[in-house]
Amino acid sequence: MSKRIEVKDLNVYYSKFLAVEGVSINIEPRSVTAFIGPSGCGKSTFLRTLNRMHEVIPGARVEGEVLLDGEDLYGAGVDPVLVRRQVGMVFQRPNPFPTMSIRDNVLAGVRLNDRRMSKGDADALVEKSLTGANLWNEVKDRLDKPGSGLSGGQQQRLCIARAIAVSPEVLLMDEPCSALDPISTLAIEDLIDQLKQEYTIVIVTHNMQQASRVSDRTAFFNIAGTGKPGKLIEYDDTSTIFSTPSVQATEDYVSGRFG
Ligand SMILES: Nc1ncnc2c1ncn2[C@@H]1O[C@H](COP(=O)(O)OP(=O)(O)OP(=O)(O)O)[C@@H](O)[C@H]1O
Ligand SMILES: [Mg+2]
Repeated sequence: MSKRIEVKDLNVYYSKFLAVEGVSINIEPRSVTAFIGPSGCGKSTFLRTLNRMHEVIPGARVEGEVLLDGEDLYGAGVDPVLVRRQVGMVFQRPNPFPTMSIRDNVLAGVRLNDRRMSKGDADALVEKSLTGANLWNEVKDRLDKPGSGLSGGQQQRLCIARAIAVSPEVLLMDEPCSALDPISTLAIEDLIDQLKQEYTIVIVTHNMQQASRVSDRTAFFNIAGTGKPGKLIEYDDTSTIFSTPSVQATEDYVSGRFG
């Protein structure tokens, strides 16, 4: 289920603007990797290229390679819809479909992917995904109520349930806790810890404690100045990045001296 990501010399452009330059990184399966760095350094931009989500932005394009277990996501004939099915994404703001029921929200990605399914199979998948997202007990008696009736933390777990319902291999999360209170944040962090047994997880976070709590490896991105491209500065075990990084800029950032 869980796959390895290899990125080779990736550049990301918004039309002529080079937003991210020269990123090479290997992300191991069954691990959590945190992307950290100051605002505007290209974390979200780079993250979106790992499932071709940037292609919905006019003018956005990449150079370089992204391999998923050795297969190029950008190879000729590769369908971006299938890529996004293997590499799921959870966004900063919980974005359930507000008028859709909790049940239909979980199944939304599955239906988009056009899989025909019996009611029994659908029910089983809803339960499995909600259980996987650690939300089942809280919602099992109101599956037909709208997703918008849940708390923010529950909505974010609903979005995680929707993402895992399609059985992805990789889960990308862009600041999944930034709109949540501390209790919901810890619930999501616990969940990430469980999910890493099955998925390759990449999480963007501005919260240093969160990065050190949940991730095995940490990648620090930075920019030299406005209008300059973001770059990967240092990538190592999380404990090393937070205790003895090799680059001064990393140390300054993780110790709160800038950014
Ligand atoms: N849709 C877009 N069109 C044009 N430029 C963009 C677009 N999205 C981001 N950028 C630019 O790309 C650069 C990187 O932005 P990005 O959102 O990836 O940064 P980030 O590290 O995720 O920041 P934050 O921590 O604030 O979320 C910035 O200069 C930003 O203005
Ligand atoms: Mg961002």
